[in-house]
Amino acid sequence: MKRLHIFTLLFVIFPSFLFAGEGMWIPMLLQYNEKEMQEMGMRITADDIYSINHSSLKDAIVLFGGGCTGEIVSNQGLLLTNHHCGYDYIQKHSSVEHDYLTNGFWAMNRGEELPCPGLSVIFLREMRDVTEKILHNIDIDMPEDERQAKIDENVKKLVAEFEKQTDYKVSIKPFFLGNEYYMLFNETYTDVRLVGCPPSNIGKFGGDTDNWVWPRHTGDFSIFRVYADKDGHPAAYSEDNVPYKPAKHLDISLKGAEEGDFAFVFGYPARTNEYLPAVAVDQEANLIDPVTVDLRGKVLDIYNRYQEQDPKVRIQYASKHAGIGNGWKKWMGVTEGINHFRGVEKKEAYEKGFQEWALAARNRYMYIDLLRQFKDNYKQLEPYQLAYTYVAEAGLRIELVSFAGRFARLSEVTKDTPQEDIDRMLHQLKGTSENFFKDYYEPIDRDVAKMLLKEYLEAQSTDFRPTFLNDIKDVDSYVDKLFDKTMFTDEAKVTALLDNFKAKDAKKLANDPAMKVYQSLIGFFRNEVHGKMASITADNDRLRRIYMKGQMEMQPEKRFSPDANFTLRVTYGRVEGFRPKDGMKYKHFTTLEGIMQKENPDIYDYVVEPRLKELYNKKDYGRYADKDGTMHVAFTASVHTTGGNSGSPILNADGQLLGLNFDRCWEGTMSDLIYDPDICRNISVDIRYVLFIIDKFAGAGHLIDEMTIVE
Ligand code: ARG
Ligand code: ASP
Repeated sequence: MKRLHIFTLLFVIFPSFLFAGEGMWIPMLLQYNEKEMQEMGMRITADDIYSINHSSLKDAIVLFGGGCTGEIVSNQGLLLTNHHCGYDYIQKHSSVEHDYLTNGFWAMNRGEELPCPGLSVIFLREMRDVTEKILHNIDIDMPEDERQAKIDENVKKLVAEFEKQTDYKVSIKPFFLGNEYYMLFNETYTDVRLVGCPPSNIGKFGGDTDNWVWPRHTGDFSIFRVYADKDGHPAAYSEDNVPYKPAKHLDISLKGAEEGDFAFVFGYPARTNEYLPAVAVDQEANLIDPVTVDLRGKVLDIYNRYQEQDPKVRIQYASKHAGIGNGWKKWMGVTEGINHFRGVEKKEAYEKGFQEWALAARNRYMYIDLLRQFKDNYKQLEPYQLAYTYVAEAGLRIELVSFAGRFARLSEVTKDTPQEDIDRMLHQLKGTSENFFKDYYEPIDRDVAKMLLKEYLEAQSTDFRPTFLNDIKDVDSYVDKLFDKTMFTDEAKVTALLDNFKAKDAKKLANDPAMKVYQSLIGFFRNEVHGKMASITADNDRLRRIYMKGQMEMQPEKRFSPDANFTLRVTYGRVEGFRPKDGMKYKHFTTLEGIMQKENPDIYDYVVEPRLKELYNKKDYGRYADKDGTMHVAFTASVHTTGGNSGSPILNADGQLLGLNFDRCWEGTMSDLIYDPDICRNISVDIRYVLFIIDKFAGAGHLIDEMTIVE
């Protein structure tokens, strides 16, 4: 009876427990979801998606560049991912003469494809459940360090054993916060070449203004090709390499999707925390995120002011702005979403149910004190978490200070340091400082420093902050003096030092006022914050593991999905819009009309290419038009995604490509902490828009010819 009571309670509190939108599923275990997926409309099988006995969709999916997802769309290794995922590589190939960021790039034959040193893609070849083998000699009461040592030993042994039997890279990762362990067999290809990308005013249309927001009109895609040796094996870049022949490439559907259609995303979500206790969610959403948002917002205001005045500065700060702005906007959405959705209260109600369950039977003794311990731990963690946030967001955000920090090791060399170590450092630092000065505008940084140090002084008390702050009498004059005296704002000085460096120059570096600020920040973090923070976090990890186990025991019928951990996952839901607020409904797709509505030649993010306008005016969409006659650009779905899912394929009921996932809607960005099926939506670029741009806009139809198109 008791059990039933709790289940009813859970259902009332979290009806989403029974909704398919939530969950990032392990492809190997997809047979447990198959029935539900098919009931929702899927016409293929779990085995078509992941199999180790025959080719399956998984053979077409890669971890791209260590942070995004990509998919193979031809039997010649052609790969699609987002524009923002290829951005770094596009940028590296760009110069004033060949500005591929601004103008786009299209290889018209294989010879024109551009090698991308440092870029790799990883295929998952197989995965296995090794929980038994890793946890067989572990018991729940074991002291934590002993437990971890045993696990590490088991992992090492097992990896070594399997590496003997295979050419693949073998690794073992914890799932469900350490309650389960899976072995992964991966293969990494390092010859990956840039094939094409649209101009930024297509690939990044709407820029940071539209980022995280629906309605969206971004053609966020870029094209690469994976190369292999003549036997299809990974090989370092060589002219003799040939296009990689995958066991499977994705078919592409031109049919689009209707509202309500089943859809799934297959890719590499990086990190979610769906099983955090209420107290942790509250701390993140209502304490840490707002501080970060506030500080970043003020930095961005300063960037904006200068960027608007000077096109050169706009370019110099574009990528920094995007990086800071991406988190700034997302976390704002997280706080609003958690509070609007009353996420903390809902978690608290759920925890009440958990506590009742734990107290209801003797053999649940290990669960009864968990929630109290969480409360204690997070309370203790609070000042450290805040201190860390200020070090990172207020201290190291000053470009001068973090740049000086890059020279910290060089400032510590002595006459006994081996010359080859020094040479290696010098070589690296030359690159670092070249990059730094190319995009550095001192007046911005000076203003940022003045603003941030004022914020820092106001927020953190004298006895718990870096000591340099306590010597400041007037921030403005302190900062002016710092910037006037340091060598690190002067490219000529830095270059001269690096070119003629002698061990005795280390002193000069160590005594530089910017280095002193850096050392004061880091010293404070190291001595007063890090140790305590790490030990509380380690204890929280233990509690979270046990809490996870308890939740699974409490609801034996529920299918749990493990938090994202950068392993391949399948997530599914429906193509659908949503109601962000009372009286508002968001449609599930956007069209080229919307690009024309947003057009503004005076605002960089909203410039529309003449060629695109021409195609629009002629309605020259060819077979890429929707059956309603318009050109669909992006669409939303109730599929659970997170960072890392960018570039992931979103597929239809037949497993054919519908689009590329690239973002989420602002109202639902809290989905990393709590997923609400009513407002959490992922955003994808419609594959028909991608093909239209490749074919009609860029005239690169030869790439389309390689693909398998289903009309
Ligand atoms: N918000 C997306 C993500 O988290 C896209 C970011 C890139 N786009 C941009 N305009 N900054 O990565
Ligand atoms: N834009 C994200 C990415 O780059 C995806 C997301 O957070 O929804 O992976």
